Amino acid sequence: MVIVLLGPPGVGKGTQAVRLVDDLGAEHVSTGDLLRAARREGTELGQLAQGYMDRGELVPDDLILNLVKDHLAGVDADRDVLFDGFPRTTDQAAGLDGALESIGRRVDAVVLFEAPDETLIQRLSGRRSCPDCGAVYNTFFSPPASEGVCDRCGGSLVHRKDDTPETVARRLEVYLDQTAPLIDFYDEHEAPLSRVRADRPVEDVFTDFRSAVETQAS
Ligand code: AP5
Repeated sequence: MVIVLLGPPGVGKGTQAVRLVDDLGAEHVSTGDLLRAARREGTELGQLAQGYMDRGELVPDDLILNLVKDHLAGVDADRDVLFDGFPRTTDQAAGLDGALESIGRRVDAVVLFEAPDETLIQRLSGRRSCPDCGAVYNTFFSPPASEGVCDRCGGSLVHRKDDTPETVARRLEVYLDQTAPLIDFYDEHEAPLSRVRADRPVEDVFTDFRSAVETQAS
């Protein structure tokens, strides 16, 4: 099964993706995480992506599609895959369809998370991430036991550079201009799109997320 998780910055895609991936034993493909790893490793892609990410702009489609295709090449053909934060433009979505078709697969389920902008802005201002193990916390809703320290691995937590108020405002504009058109794209796609209200407790969102995927897959 191939699942696409859509939604604005801070809506909780990463938080929910990790839970579903644990349940299904699926491959989690987060283009944001892949790009941040490329930046940490100082690869050419990481250097090219840096300016776009820090400004809250999208990294060009050709770079993203090559990144995803390279990653998919290392994934077993029968393994479930969950895309988180990809595709983000209609060209990326068409590119994904083509890449999947060439390996005899297709998008089976699309889930859109929705929440008001005030919720997204508060979540992003409180987000703290562990660069070592990837755990995500929130100073308002799910703080670590000891301030600034990862509960899981003891790493030092960081506030992402693109979570400043100015960059968050730009990311929300970019979402509306370039990613929200995917809602119509997938509404007309063979894979049905389900909407989940994400401004609720994590476990309630997850219950609806899982049931949307199960319904679409059946
Ligand atoms: P990316 O890393 O994908 O960022 P994003 O889509 O903006 O999403 P976020 O990671 O900010 O939020 P999320 O929805 O995953 O929320 P989370 O679960 O962390 O992309 C970053 C950049 O990379 C882009 O701006 C772009 O430059 C580039 N990029 C990436 N993919 C690209 C692509 N395909 N094409 C082009 N460029 C690309 O939750 C947020 C916070 O809220 C956390 O603190 C969490 O603990 C908390 N929280 C979550 N759920 C709840 C809840 N139910 N209740 C209370 N708190 C909650």
